[in-house]
Amino acid sequence: MKILVTGGCGYIGSHTVVDLLNENYDVVIIDNLSNSKKDVIEKIKKITGKNVTFYEFDMCSKEKLREVFEKENISSVIHFAGLKAVGESVEKPLMYYENNLISTLNLLELMKEYNVKKIVFSSSATVYGNPKSLPIKEDFPLSTTNPYGTTKLMIERILKDLYQANNSFDITILRYFNPIGAHFSGLLGEDPNGIPNNLMPYIMKVAVGKLPILSVFGNDYNTIDGTGVRDYVHVCDLSYGHVLALKNPKPGLKIYNLGTGRGTSVLELINTFEKVNGVTINKKIVGRREGDIDACYASIDKAKEELGFEPRYNIEDMCKDSYNFVKKSN
Ligand code: WQD
Repeated sequence: MKILVTGGCGYIGSHTVVDLLNENYDVVIIDNLSNSKKDVIEKIKKITGKNVTFYEFDMCSKEKLREVFEKENISSVIHFAGLKAVGESVEKPLMYYENNLISTLNLLELMKEYNVKKIVFSSSATVYGNPKSLPIKEDFPLSTTNPYGTTKLMIERILKDLYQANNSFDITILRYFNPIGAHFSGLLGEDPNGIPNNLMPYIMKVAVGKLPILSVFGNDYNTIDGTGVRDYVHVCDLSYGHVLALKNPKPGLKIYNLGTGRGTSVLELINTFEKVNGVTINKKIVGRREGDIDACYASIDKAKEELGFEPRYNIEDMCKDSYNFVKKSN
């Protein structure tokens, strides 16, 4: 029996595949390499000593996807594949709706046809919009402000309706807060194509001189130092959360926040990165970025209680591992 990991060459996907292999699962990856590189497969083998079965194609092709279900004995699916740049989604909404929704509908239809009932879905804290209070709990109101976030919300809705119609499905929705950090080997990490949208990948590029200066988007938020506060979670804590979700005996449709429960400001993150790595990050304060919220951090009580999820790494670890990765990959 094999675990199908869609988007398994990506940042969170590749770290999750390492954890799955270390737990002696057999893994099949489907990835179209639109935001990842094929050499990740070799790096996963270097870390674990194990092989995976890899298919390179776009999941919008239902016939190619069918071949995988036909050929491989899939027991469960972890679904990461999807476009994920907020800014790009505002410029190209149709591309985001088509890609993220069609690929997911193809996957769910084939899961149903081949009687594969267990799925763990990669969702995002972005579905909470601008929360009225903190920490954010799973039953908070949902709203989105960009097409990327709306595709995540729509897929959650599709999964809820699927479960309503057929409660033999075992569905886990994981809402990630802000994943950063890298595998301690320095072989896997966040390496987006082009100019990074997110804070840590941008800091990493400035740290190694690939970008000249970091813009801090606003210092007039209602936070400890005026800069945005987020719940940064180590990607290796996040990836292990998927193994826990896979092993969770509780049936039905389940939703969990995956974060640390702690908020860190932009300036706090930059200062920590500089301190633990002995570098200086050239930065300037500029205006707010459209759509940003003041603060966002998770209640992870439900994941702790039902999954046994316990974040092991702190902000210092995340900064150290991020720098270790970017030094090795540049
Ligand atoms: C974090 C903080 C910025 C860049 C997004 C998506 C979310 C998820 C994670 C996929 C904010 C500030 C950022 C920069 C800055 N992605 N910042 N200068 O916006 O919290 O969440 O990524 O699921 O869906 O919305 O993350 O890293 O972009 O921003 O000052 O160059 O850093 O204002 O306060 P965000 P981020």
